[in-house]
Amino acid sequence: MQYQWYPGHMTKAKRQMQEDIKLVDLVIELVDARVPVSSHNPDIDEIGKSKSRLVLLNKADLADESKNQAWCEYYKSRGMYAVRLDARNRAGMKEVQNVIQEACKEKLERNRRRGILNRPVRAMVAGIPNVGKSTFINSFAGKACTKTGNKPGVTKGKQWIRLNKNVELLDTPGILWPKFEDQTIGLHLAFIGSIKDELLNRDEMAVELVKELLSQYPGVLAARYDLLESADPTEVFSYIAKNRNCLKKGGELDHAKAAALLLEEFRSGRLGRITIETPSLETIG
Ligand code: G4P
Repeated sequence: MQYQWYPGHMTKAKRQMQEDIKLVDLVIELVDARVPVSSHNPDIDEIGKSKSRLVLLNKADLADESKNQAWCEYYKSRGMYAVRLDARNRAGMKEVQNVIQEACKEKLERNRRRGILNRPVRAMVAGIPNVGKSTFINSFAGKACTKTGNKPGVTKGKQWIRLNKNVELLDTPGILWPKFEDQTIGLHLAFIGSIKDELLNRDEMAVELVKELLSQYPGVLAARYDLLESADPTEVFSYIAKNRNCLKKGGELDHAKAAALLLEEFRSGRLGRITIETPSLETIG
């Protein structure tokens, strides 16, 4: 299977980010906790190399909690700050606030030593499409925050959201495009629904997902679909179609329907909290 993205948008977005990055002290990168490798674009390591880094393992509510923890440890071991998050839930934002303070401690301290007392640190949210950037900005900024930089007479300035007296957030996120360095990345992004299904062969994708689940979460499919024992992904996929009565008019199995069903159940978390990529098995950058 081939996965494509749109190079024109990519170049423009990257250029924008290279401009915006100059304005901030901290980069807050969202990744999808189910596939932290595939949903990370390594360009950000280069673009944000002189900045403090905070990784938000977003959609952590859909991911395996033990792996969420393993990923947090992984990022910390690489000198980054990390928080697992459900961006839809405002309750998690307090922790993010605290970690931002921690991540910017040195900068604030440096300012203080120079007698600069009222300059907030500035942060930018970045990530590939669909990881939850807008959801996060909305939850995080909330209603209490005031927008700055859009005063009458001051046009074309960047919009900043003042979170508190210490931190301001750039209100437009930096959009990174996924980097399809190999087919696995495309496949994993397709599993979580970050690539339009219409572009793909869904049956093939579903069989690949079955293969992944059989190896990483044995028992999950058997329990959900009351399956017979089998190690053959194609066979298991057919069992799922039978179990869910995905049949065409003549009684033949309707694989397209079964694929849509399986992917939907995986994406919505109905198969349980599942993480496809683990830090011990994967490498970043
Ligand atoms: P983006 O700006 O990075 O492109 O992503 P956006 O905030 O639009 O979020 C993409 C989808 O992911 C949204 O769902 C959003 O509700 C969902 N989402 C964001 N953060 C989380 C999270 O932590 N956990 C879960 N489970 N979902 C999250 P949607 O189906 O596109 O829209 P809607 O259902 O919110 O209407």
